Amino acid sequence: MKKKKIAIVSDHAGYFLKEKILRYLIKEGQEVKDFGCSSEETVDYPDYGHPLANAVSAGDYELGISICGTGNGINMVVNKHPGIRSALCWNEEISRLARAHNDANICALPGRFISESEAYLIVRTFIDTTFEGGRHKKRIDKISLKMY
Ligand code: RB5
Repeated sequence: MKKKKIAIVSDHAGYFLKEKILRYLIKEGQEVKDFGCSSEETVDYPDYGHPLANAVSAGDYELGISICGTGNGINMVVNKHPGIRSALCWNEEISRLARAHNDANICALPGRFISESEAYLIVRTFIDTTFEGGRHKKRIDKISLKMY
């Protein structure tokens, strides 16, 4: 696996999977910062998603991984931040395309709907896939509201 500076976060619904992914990435030699949460006690995903998005947006981390029950809530939160392109990734191919075509910098995972082994595959693919640029660069440059 390519070495990247990675930030990870979850709410309570993603906590179990976050802990598994965190251990997996550390075992693979990745530098990972855990933005919480720290148990399965109920929390509000925006309280955790915003700090992670701030850090990725500021360039402190190359990639982020965010997990909630469906992946949708935390995905919506982080996508409010400038420079963030977060993609909901529920299988390996979606994950590959999120990087290759969308240059996504945060991988949002649906913790209640994917298995542990699926999550490892999705995360590994997200980290290892390179943005293709070219026609896709022109398109992602048009995502910013400043263009319209
Ligand atoms: C928490 O119960 C759940 O609503 C949250 O994890 C997420 O799925 C929201 O989008």
